Formats: sequence, structure tokens, C-alpha cells
Amino acid sequence: MIGIFDSGVGGLTVVKEIFRHLPDYQIIYFGDAARLPYGTKGAEFVRKYSAKIAEWLLGKKAKIIIIACNTSSAFASDSLKNKFRNVPIFEMINPAVKEAVKKTKNKRIGIIGTPGTIKSNSYQKKLLKLNPSLKIFSEACPLFVPLVEEGWIDNEITIKIIKKYLESLKGKGVDTLILGCTHYPLLKKTIEKIIGPNVNVINPAESLAKEVKEYLNNNSKLQKEIKKGSRHNFFFSDEPYNLEKISRLCLSRVIKNPYIKDPFNN
Ligand code: DGL
Repeated sequence: MIGIFDSGVGGLTVVKEIFRHLPDYQIIYFGDAARLPYGTKGAEFVRKYSAKIAEWLLGKKAKIIIIACNTSSAFASDSLKNKFRNVPIFEMINPAVKEAVKKTKNKRIGIIGTPGTIKSNSYQKKLLKLNPSLKIFSEACPLFVPLVEEGWIDNEITIKIIKKYLESLKGKGVDTLILGCTHYPLLKKTIEKIIGPNVNVINPAESLAKEVKEYLNNNSKLQKEIKKGSRHNFFFSDEPYNLEKISRLCLSRVIKNPYIKDPFNN
């Protein structure tokens, strides 16, 4: 199985891309709804629970781990890669960064994400490592997560709030914008309209799914080890808010009988 985790329902935007690019593989998903949001928590907290979840997924026979949460990718991917050295671990940031560097022509890149992701400077550091001459501009957009969870992806209020957050990035002349949070791909069309037609808007979930696909194509042993099939398992540590709406938006279907129990609170 492919193990995928997030702080809650946002990682379903990643599941969508995994289903699209790797339709044959069985997945096991864990959403830490009991402790969300991660985006406003401290690094230590996110690291601690990310490690517990990764271990739990491996116990459930996951053969690879996808950190389908940008905040967790920012704070915990290095420590997880260190802790579980024999397990292929994928995260949101590296694939998106590579794609942004390929796409930008004017070398001006914008990043939007949760306060945690933006504060960590992870996207920025990785972008500058690939190309030190880039100009990077970032903006935390904390209101986007609750708007998406409400299902408000293109109404009047959402448009106003997106305009407000993107105002300063628009003025910076970026030609590439990374959607550095799991929920933002659901706002992609609205964001594209506001930021304008000359900006490449990058969905890290898509970049990540392509990278996992390429990795598996080059690893036939692992390919055989990961169970194939469509009996996916969805676990949440607490009742997720608006799961039905979000799963319809992401997967065009409802997740039937998700398993709800907090394995870290006995
Ligand atoms: N999944 C988180 C991320 O991508 C957003 C939601 C949260 O703050 O927990 O950063």
C-alpha cells in the first residue's frame, strides 16, 4: 500500500493526483483531524505527530510514505527521512520546487502557504539552492483553509479574501506561483483568474504524484511489493469537518465508512 498522511482532509487533493497518475495502487490514508490545523502549530508538535503517523502507517504495511501536508513536509520531512532510512518518503516541497524552477522565465517566484510553511522558509531555501539568482516572494494565507473546508471555493467573500492576500504578490511581478498548502488546489481556478493569465500556477500535489510515478517506474521490486487494487482505506483520528463535501470536491465521490479512531490517545 501507499501510505499517505495529512493533518486532515486537505491531503485528499494529493490522493486525487495519486489516483490520477497511479490508478492501480492501493492506498492507506491517515488524516490527523484530532490535532488539525498543523499550519498554525509549532515545528516540534508537527514533527512529533508526523513521526507517530508514519510509524503507524508502516505498521499497517505501507511500503512508501507520502507526506501529503505542506506544513508537515516543511517541518518534519528531514527528521522522518532520518528516522525511517529504509523507507521511500516523498513530500510536497521538492517536486514543486523543481517544477517552478523549470517554468519560471523571469526568475520571480511566489509562494503561498500556511503560516508554518511560510515561516519555515522551506520552499525558499530549496528554490535558492537550485538557483541562487531567483527572487522569491511569499505570503501566508491562513484564511484559505477554513474557506475551502466550508466549500467556499469561488464565492464573493472568497474572491475578496484571495484578492487581499495576493495583492502584494501581484505587485512583485511573479511569473510562477506555488500553491504551498494542500487546500489551495481547490482554489486554483479562482486564484488563476485573480493572479492573471501570465502566471504559471503550480499544484505541488501534481508535481509530487508525477515524481512518485517516475520513482515506481524505476523500481520494479517495490512496484510488486505495493498491493494493487481499489480497496483503499481512509483513517481519521477524529470526525473530519465536512468530509463529504471535500471528498466530493477532490475525488468526485464520497468516502464510505472512514475509520475514525485516534491511535495516539488511548
Ligand atoms: N495540510 C496543511 C498544509 O498543507 C493545511 C491544513 C492545516 O493547517 O493543517 O499545510
